[in-house]
Amino acid sequence: LNGNSLDEVLKKEALSDEDIVFLLGLTEPEDCKKLQEAAYKKTTELMGNKVYYRGLIEVSNVCTVDCRYCGIRKDNHGVHRYTLSKEEILEAAMFAAENGYGSICLQAGERNDPKFVSFISDCLREIHRKTVSESLPNSLGITLSLGDQTKEVYEEWAEASGNRQNLRYLARFESSNQELFDFLHNVLHKKSKQLEHRLQCLQWLKECGYQVGTGVMIGIPGQKLEDLCSDIRLYQKLEADMIGMGPYLMSEGGDLKSLGQTENKKLFQLSLNMIAVTRLVMGNINIAAATAMQVLDPQGRETAISYGANVVMPNLTPLQYREGYQLYDKKPGLKDDPETFGLKLEERIQSKGREVGWNLSGSSRKWLNR
Ligand code: 5AD
Repeated sequence: LNGNSLDEVLKKEALSDEDIVFLLGLTEPEDCKKLQEAAYKKTTELMGNKVYYRGLIEVSNVCTVDCRYCGIRKDNHGVHRYTLSKEEILEAAMFAAENGYGSICLQAGERNDPKFVSFISDCLREIHRKTVSESLPNSLGITLSLGDQTKEVYEEWAEASGNRQNLRYLARFESSNQELFDFLHNVLHKKSKQLEHRLQCLQWLKECGYQVGTGVMIGIPGQKLEDLCSDIRLYQKLEADMIGMGPYLMSEGGDLKSLGQTENKKLFQLSLNMIAVTRLVMGNINIAAATAMQVLDPQGRETAISYGANVVMPNLTPLQYREGYQLYDKKPGLKDDPETFGLKLEERIQSKGREVGWNLSGSSRKWLNR
C-alpha cells in the first residue's frame, strides 16, 4: 500500500482486519506521524484535552500463579515478598486524594485466600470512610487490579468500596492467541491461567458494575500483527471501558529468557501503533500510557499520550518496597518520589499541549454513555 492509501485508510469510519494489520505494521516515520495525528485528533475530540492520573499502589508482590513472563511469579524465589500494611495503603490513598489525583489503582500479585480478600475489603471500606469524613472528593475513582477471583469476591469488593459510580477493574487477557497464551502461562501446570477463565472474570466484573479494563502485552516474540488485530477485535467484543497495554519486556526472574525480546526501536513503534489503532477502533475509552513504555524511551509515556493514550499511572507505592515489584527488568521510577513526580510529569504533559485532570476521576465516557 502506498502513501495515498494510508490517507484513505485513516479516513475510514470502520477499519477492516487488513487495514488494522497495515496500520500496526507502519515503520516509515512520515507514515507513523500520520497515524499518530489521526489518533491524537480522535482522542482529543472524543475525550477532551485532559490526561488523568491514577495513583498506583502496589499492595503486595505475593503471588500464587506462575506466569512465565513475570518477575514476581510464584516460582521466582529471588524476590523478597512484601505486603503493605493497611496503614501504608491508606496513607498512599490519602496522598492521592489530597493531592488531586482523581483516582487510585490497587494492584497486587494474584491471591484468592479469604484473609487477603477481607484485607482488601477492609482497606476499601476504610478508604471510603476517610475520603467521606475528611470531605475529600468521595468521587475518588478506585481501580482494582488483583487478578482472577470469584464473582462473589468481585461483588464483596464492589460493596466495600461504597462507590460503584467510580469503580474499575483492570485484568489484561495478555493475548487472544490461545496457543501463545497457553505457552506464556505454562498451561500444563496445575495452577495456571486459563484464557477462558480470564474472559469469564471480565464478564463477571461487568455484571457487578465495574468499569472494565483489559489489555495485552505487545511484541512478544512469536506474536504476529494478526494476533494484535485479534486482540483489538476482542477488546471490541468485550466492550472494554479502558485498555492498558505495553511492550513485552524480558524479566530476569521470569522463565522466558531464551525467548529474547524484540529490538527496542521496533518494539517501541509497534507499541505506539497499537495504542493509536486501538484508539481509532475503540473510540471514547480510556487508554493508559504504560510505565513499560518508559523502559524503551525516556519520553515513552508522553509519546504514548501523543498517540492516543489519556491516562497515566504515577507510582505511589512507598519507595522502600518498589524494588520488590519488578514485573520486568529495568522498571523505571523506582525512585520517583510521589511528592514531586506528579508535578514534574504535569510539566511534560503540558509541553505536549495537554493538561492534567486534577481532582477528576476520569470515568470511561463509553461507560458513562451506557
Ligand atoms: N513485560 C511486560 N509486561 C509485563 N507484565 C508482567 N510481566 C511483564 C513483562 N515481562 C504485565 C502483564 C500484567 C501486568 C500487571 O503487567 O501484562 O497483566
